[in-house]
Amino acid sequence: MEARTVKIRVPGTSANLGAGFDTLGIACSCYNELELTLYKDNRLEIEVTGEGAGDIPTDERNIVWRSIVKVLKRLGCNKEFLGARIKMHNMVPLSRGLGSSATAIVGGIKAANEALGAPLTGQDLLKIATDIEGHPDNVAPALFGGMTISTVKNGQPETFRFMPRLNFKMVVAVPDFYLPTKAAREVLPDKISRSDAIFNIGSTAILIAALMKGSKRFIYNAFEDKMHQPYRAELIPGMFDVFQAAKEAGAMGAFLSGAGPCLIAFTDKNEARVGKAMIEAFARHDVKAEYMVLSVDEEGAKVIG
Ligand code: HSE
Repeated sequence: MEARTVKIRVPGTSANLGAGFDTLGIACSCYNELELTLYKDNRLEIEVTGEGAGDIPTDERNIVWRSIVKVLKRLGCNKEFLGARIKMHNMVPLSRGLGSSATAIVGGIKAANEALGAPLTGQDLLKIATDIEGHPDNVAPALFGGMTISTVKNGQPETFRFMPRLNFKMVVAVPDFYLPTKAAREVLPDKISRSDAIFNIGSTAILIAALMKGSKRFIYNAFEDKMHQPYRAELIPGMFDVFQAAKEAGAMGAFLSGAGPCLIAFTDKNEARVGKAMIEAFARHDVKAEYMVLSVDEEGAKVIG
């Protein structure tokens, strides 16, 4: 089998969007790029520039390489291609709740599939990526772009993808500390009450309906959640004050991005004012942060060379 060199671009993503814990995701216009050449001998050459350079492993522990190997195994050619050259250029902040590990997984599997003539379908890639990541909420929007609702039933992930009909930007406040997802999951209770579950079902359903119909007035309280944000607030100083500051500056609403620590506000006006208000609110809690203004990425992972 022959393999071609491919270059892939993968969007960063935000999971949960408030109440849709482990279920909702959205692709953002902030990207990691990856160039892959498969080798028939066992040389592994990994180069990382941008975010994570110096921190991301460049040997066989590298998550992009491990994801490529999953595709090679699935296609029965892991004995034929033993090594690779992987050049990564990362712009998605690392370990901040913007899906950097999902971009690595999706980048690896998409690149390997394209290098070998794209024998696997999007659904095949979703299954492989979900099995590696453990949940589909970030890998689904990284693969397909737009906004995604994902479930896993009997081990099979299923994703409904749509583009929001509302016009908005995402103002992302990026604090200057890392928060590993594992640590942010350890503070969550194993069980929640029926009333909290009902609250989250309602918030999630209203958010989806409002985004599909373009009903701005329903967005204002639709990011409220009782499953994870209240418990994670102790790990992100000032979180609720930052949400409030964003709203007072004109945002429709704000939420914890994935497992954090990034916070995201949806706004259809005054992005700079919202961003500055979020940074100032963080500063009042001695947290240094920067902000980015992003749009919804429509395309997901795609070949760019
Ligand atoms: N849904 C995950 C969490 C996001 O909140 O822990 C990280 O994939």
